[in-house]
Amino acid sequence: MIAHLRHLTRLAGRGHSRLASSSSASTSYLIDQPEYSFLKELGLERNNPGVYSGHWQGRGQTITSYDPGTGQAIATVRQGNVQELQQTIGLGVEAYKQWRQVPAPVRGEIVRQIGDELRKYKEPLGKLVSLEVGKIYSEGQGEVQEFIDICDYAVGLSRIYSGQLINSERADHTILEAWRPLGLVGVISAYNFPNAVFGWNAAIALTTGNSVLWKGAPSTPLVSVATTKIVADVLRRNNLPPVVTLCQGGTDVGQSLVADKRVNLVSFTGSCKTGQDVGVEVQRRFGKVILELGGNNALIIDSSANVKMALDAALFGCIGTSGQRCTTTRRIIVHEQLHDQFVTSLVAKYKQLIPKIGHQLDAQTLVGPVHTQQNVDSYRTTIEEAKALGGTVAFGGKVLERSGYYVEPTIITGLAHDASVVHRETFAPIVYVLKAKNVDEAISWNNEVEQGLSSAIFTENISQAFKWIGARGSDCGIVNINTTTNGAEIGGAFGGEKATGGGRESGSDAWKQYCKRATITVNHSGELACAQGVVFNVE
Ligand code: UN1
Repeated sequence: MIAHLRHLTRLAGRGHSRLASSSSASTSYLIDQPEYSFLKELGLERNNPGVYSGHWQGRGQTITSYDPGTGQAIATVRQGNVQELQQTIGLGVEAYKQWRQVPAPVRGEIVRQIGDELRKYKEPLGKLVSLEVGKIYSEGQGEVQEFIDICDYAVGLSRIYSGQLINSERADHTILEAWRPLGLVGVISAYNFPNAVFGWNAAIALTTGNSVLWKGAPSTPLVSVATTKIVADVLRRNNLPPVVTLCQGGTDVGQSLVADKRVNLVSFTGSCKTGQDVGVEVQRRFGKVILELGGNNALIIDSSANVKMALDAALFGCIGTSGQRCTTTRRIIVHEQLHDQFVTSLVAKYKQLIPKIGHQLDAQTLVGPVHTQQNVDSYRTTIEEAKALGGTVAFGGKVLERSGYYVEPTIITGLAHDASVVHRETFAPIVYVLKAKNVDEAISWNNEVEQGLSSAIFTENISQAFKWIGARGSDCGIVNINTTTNGAEIGGAFGGEKATGGGRESGSDAWKQYCKRATITVNHSGELACAQGVVFNVE
């Protein structure tokens, strides 16, 4: 904490671009300070190569990674250029050709080793996730835990994922269904989950026999490099080719990756707008996509709700990760009988969080900074727009005047359910509380937004609960009862409908998205027979 206070007083101002090139010898980097020695434990240096394809390189722009909690530089990364990306793709495709020959349970064994390494490095890696993103210590640790969990899941999967045997209408014919790897899977991840989202994709893609090429967010390059180092070490120890590669880079690198025919599946996490462009571009070349895009997630409070539990769910849902999860609660739709009391109680809870706003690595902190000046700007713009539309700021609404990117968690009431700001996802801790007549109205508001990621209802009424999860209920991919909209476990399939993109990652049968399906008809009758009774032969 003392170190953080020192940064706060030393720093002149905030708001410098996180992508600004900074190699000046006079800049001081956190990595050189003794209290940040955990960065060196991860193999990071002051200037790190950002491309891995069996060896490390990086001939593109050098970028600086900043601590959003102080604005101070952490270290730099030399990104890849388009030519390096293309070479990396070529090496990834070659690696795939060997990897697909490895039996699935043996691939699972490699993923098990990756999980074990992550367990060893969980503390420093989770701390780096916190430092670079701005999320609090326990959430940084929790993110690495998600990667460990999906490795365990993938190890089991490697021994049980299977096809099926289907009855043929023709005598002595058998239809089989088998799942084969796609080839090279490109993973483009976002800043808010710079470790776990790669993990969900990589663990499942590797187990099913694919190789993986990762491009992490440009503002969290150190997590990409440190994570890849951990994985690369496991590959090296097992004498494997680079079945996981990395190419950090800017928009040009991202666009080339998306357009390249050799990348059989692109798994993209990011905004709805960019995701739509990615989807169209990949379709143009008949590639496959998994899109994990924005959410506008609602928490419905029915008149029968356990309000105490609902308040706790709202607190973590709205403010966890400073409102920067795609699953963050953005709207709370409360039954009119409970609305006013609910707002009063929620405001009281928010007040208790004010002393807990602080640097993400401070043990007392529950609300860390937002990631960049851009998040601060959109926070400010959204609050101004909400006020202009007649909304009342029931709590918060201000940017904090200190180094780093700190904003007050904010509650806005009194807006129409379909006001422009309410229908827009702002990546900041702002929630709109809406008053509904009944659950039917609440469900219709839940469903009227473009996005369809996560949703939750608090109810003790079994009829309302089953309506909510039925065909007339929530139209989202995640449809919870009596728990938060955010913080999903890895065991279920993760993703959403409509403008959220339709992709599913992580558990359940999401592994099928990393495979092509082969339908195999085997004729063991000794005679050729057409299906549907068609006769087609000559004597
Ligand atoms: C994201 O915000 O992109 O359900 C992923 C959650 C986390 C994953 C969020 N398990 O909130």
